[in-house]
Amino acid sequence: MSKIKIAVQKAGRLNEDSLQLLKDCGISIDNGKDQLKASASNFPLEVLYLRNGDIPQYLRDGVVDIAIIGENVLIEKGGDIIVAERLGFSKCRVSLAVPKGTKYKGIEDLDRMRIATSYPNTVQQYFKQFNVTPDIHLINGSVEIAPNIGLADAICDIVSSGSTLFKNNLKEVEVMLKSEAVLAVSPNISDENKAILNKLQFRIQSVLKARN
Ligand code: PRP
Ligand code: MG
Repeated sequence: MSKIKIAVQKAGRLNEDSLQLLKDCGISIDNGKDQLKASASNFPLEVLYLRNGDIPQYLRDGVVDIAIIGENVLIEKGGDIIVAERLGFSKCRVSLAVPKGTKYKGIEDLDRMRIATSYPNTVQQYFKQFNVTPDIHLINGSVEIAPNIGLADAICDIVSSGSTLFKNNLKEVEVMLKSEAVLAVSPNISDENKAILNKLQFRIQSVLKARN
């Protein structure tokens, strides 16, 4: 019998809540996080623990059938991938921030300014509508440090509690988008696995209803 392959974040903020959701759906996963692949004992499902940024491509290629992933990552890297379900956890926003002392009047202030971010496509798309052209610098982590070390005039990154911005003396000046965890589906999912997905989605919907 076929098993549906689900990608779950390997480490990070989504990992725990994603596994909790599967657990609440009554699915027991055999192995811990040490292994990169694990099977459910009571549902036709296999979990692959992957890096966030790699998941959109794996969905596209059909290496995994479905994924629990931040909508912000899909917007950045997986515009073509379908969202089957919004999951209501890992809520955050993707925002622009500048050093606290900067006088900020509006988006035009960032024309030709250096923006450090892990979300270059999202930033570019956002600025396009205002006809403003920033100088985008791709950084993969600890983005908030960039202004303090003279690498950038502003940053664009995820904001959740706001504590990382606060600690780095930055202020949020624009919310570019709001995000939460979603269940994403590969465009190449087989009919067999689609049937398993339907069963899983039914359970997820019941769990989410009970949580509200
Ligand atoms: C994420 C994100 C922000 C921070 C936001 O970083 O990149 O820096 O969390 O959360 P907060 O508003 O609650 O402080 P993370 O700690 O996951 O590390 P990374 O940037 O090095 O990947
Ligand atoms: Mg960070």
